[in-house]
Amino acid sequence: MLTSITLKGVSYAFGANTVLNQIDLNIEPGSVVALLGPSGCGKSTLLRLLAGLTQPAEGEIHFGDRLVAKTGWALPPEARDIGMVFQDYALWPHMTVAQNVSFPLRMRHIPRQECDRRVAQALARVGLSDFADRKPAGLSGGQQQRVALARAIVAEPRVLLFDEPLSNLDSELRGTLCHEMATLLRQLGTTAVYVTHDRREAEILADRIVHLSAGSVAADRLITSSGEFA
Ligand SMILES: Nc1ncnc2c1ncn2[C@@H]1O[C@H](COP(=O)(O)OP(=O)(O)OP(=O)(O)O)[C@@H](O)[C@H]1O
Ligand SMILES: [Mg+2]
Repeated sequence: MLTSITLKGVSYAFGANTVLNQIDLNIEPGSVVALLGPSGCGKSTLLRLLAGLTQPAEGEIHFGDRLVAKTGWALPPEARDIGMVFQDYALWPHMTVAQNVSFPLRMRHIPRQECDRRVAQALARVGLSDFADRKPAGLSGGQQQRVALARAIVAEPRVLLFDEPLSNLDSELRGTLCHEMATLLRQLGTTAVYVTHDRREAEILADRIVHLSAGSVAADRLITSSGEFA
């Protein structure tokens, strides 16, 4: 089921420092929105609010018709049906690739056989079928990020959230993985928010680019299939 994301007047502050100021945003079901902007403009803070890792000081967030956050309250991440990919992979070092990827399914008490089938499918999607029994330490950075991607999609969440997933990788790998992720996101059709400060990456991956500047939406543009701004 495809889900819209709606933010109404969302604000956030660290003490006296207002980091997000009255953000209004409506993300269409199944679209990929890139959040672009300079360091410190509030991209990760906004993503953490969408994930339920923190709660708004003001405003409301809805996934479809479900309220997931309002002033001083947030539905926790595990109750939101989301998948997340971070800059630093955040894999569990003591678990194999397959165990890392199966984690969201085990949390949902999916039966073993179904779990194995879905893990195999997710690993195939990211090109890691032969790596199921490795530990993260035996993988390159790019491979580790593919594992994190497989873990994010394995439970087929309603919303995918990305926080600069490619910025730890060298530029050639970044280009390859960016195109692969764009293809994958199109195949999955999941509503996704993708934080980056790389404009080119945003143009390749997203249907729409929202520019944040000092905690406000500074520009909001659709991208045509030719990669130009509409
Ligand atoms: N834990 C914290 N305590 C106090 N201020 C914070 C904290 N985390 C972030 N900030 C401040 O909030 C603002 C927004 O931070 P945020 O991490 O959302 O920016 P960002 O756009 O993701 O930046 P980057 O591109 O560097 O990741 C910054 O001014 C930052 O200094
Ligand atoms: Mg950030």
